[in-house]
Amino acid sequence: MAVEQTYIMLKPDAIQRQLMGEIISRIERKGYQIVQAKLMDLDSEIIANHYAHLLEQNFYPKLEAYMLSGPVFAMIVEGEEAIQGMRTLMGPTNVFEAMPGTIRGDFATDLTYNTIHGSDSPEAAEIEIKRFFG
Ligand code: PPS
Repeated sequence: MAVEQTYIMLKPDAIQRQLMGEIISRIERKGYQIVQAKLMDLDSEIIANHYAHLLEQNFYPKLEAYMLSGPVFAMIVEGEEAIQGMRTLMGPTNVFEAMPGTIRGDFATDLTYNTIHGSDSPEAAEIEIKRFFG
């Protein structure tokens, strides 16, 4: 067991649908600490860096437009095994497989508008925390 930090981002639909409080509350009730947080507008460059492995996908233009559609809420979340733990709390990327009780299972109905992002490995967490918090 190790204390980890992970990068969590509430995507534009979470802010527009006023789900921030509900989702933050779930993260805190689980026992994780939010050690840094900020509301931020992304630009095309940071979106392209963050989703570099998806630039050639046919859904990329839709994903970019979505991430430009309003502010995101960027967080560094800390806790024991927080990287995998947050992925479990979020539910899978494919919202159609997300179980009730998970964030995506309860709030997301679309592969693109899937409410939340969380780092998928310690390497990704380090890179993403640097990308969004410097
Ligand atoms: S992959 O294929 O495993 O490398 O993809 P992954 O990095 O796990 O997640 C893909 C991200 O792209 C977002 N997205 C979509 N995925 C699949 N299909 C469609 N149509 C789509 N539209 C957007 C998906 O939400 C993942 O975003 P993050 O922020 O990483 O959860």
